[in-house]
Amino acid sequence: MLTAEQIQSNWEEFCENINTHISSPRKEKLLEFYEKYADRIMMMPAAHKKEYHNAFPGGYVEHVNRVVRCALKQAKLWEEEGADMSTFTTEELVFSAINHDLGKMGDEEHESYIPQTDKWRKEKLGEDYMFNKQVPFASVPDRGLFMLQLHGVQYSFNEMIAIQTHDGLYDNANEKYLKVFMPEQKPRTSLPYILHQADLMAARIEFEREWLPKFKNSVPTQGENFTLSKESKKSTKDKALSQLESKGLKDLFDKL
Ligand SMILES: [Fe+2]
Repeated sequence: MLTAEQIQSNWEEFCENINTHISSPRKEKLLEFYEKYADRIMMMPAAHKKEYHNAFPGGYVEHVNRVVRCALKQAKLWEEEGADMSTFTTEELVFSAINHDLGKMGDEEHESYIPQTDKWRKEKLGEDYMFNKQVPFASVPDRGLFMLQLHGVQYSFNEMIAIQTHDGLYDNANEKYLKVFMPEQKPRTSLPYILHQADLMAARIEFEREWLPKFKNSVPTQGENFTLSKESKKSTKDKALSQLESKGLKDLFDKL
C-alpha cells in the first residue's frame, strides 16, 4: 500500500514526464486531460485482482511511472546493441508509455474498476475491485486511444501501434502485428517491442516486490501444499511430542 505522500509524489513524477518529454501544443492538451481526471487516475489501481500487479490505490500511476523509466532505459540498451533509433522519437516512446494502460480508467463518467461488493469474491478470490458494468466493454488499448481522441489529443502512427500492442503476444489480438512472417508486414520500428519489454519488466518487478516477501514469510494453512522448513518441522514435532502422555511413545517419536 502507498502512503498519501507517495501517491502525491508519484503524481508529480507523472506530470513531470509530460512536461519534460511531450512537446507543445500536445503537452498542454495532455496535461489538461490528466488534470480533468486527476482525482480518479491518481487513486486508480493497476488491476482489479490483488494477485495482479499493483492492484492497490495509486498502483496505476506508480506502474506507469515505472514503465516510463524502464522504457527510457530499454531504449538505451537497444541503441547500444545497434537498433535503428531513427525510426521513432523519445517523445513517441514516452507518450506511448504514459498512455499505454489509459484504457483502464473507464470512460468519461465511470471508472472501470470499482470496490468489490461481493464479500465472497473479495475474501476467496482476492478481488478488491470489480469491473464496473456501467462501462461497455472495450480492450484496454482501444479504450485508451478512444479517450485520447475524445479529448483532442493526437497520436502518431507509431504511438498507435505501440499502445495497441503493448501486451505483446500475451494478447492474441496482437498476432496480426507481431506474429507475421512477411518482412513488409512487420513493424517498421522497434518501438512496440521496447514498450512491451518495459511493461513486462515493470509488471514483473511489481510482482516480485509485492509477492516474494509474502512467500518467504508464509505459514502453511490447511489444504496448502507447502514444503515445511526445518524450523517449522521442528516446532510441529515439539507440539506433537508435548501432546503425548506415554513416555515410551514420546521417546519413540523423539527419535524420528
Ligand atoms: Fe502496463
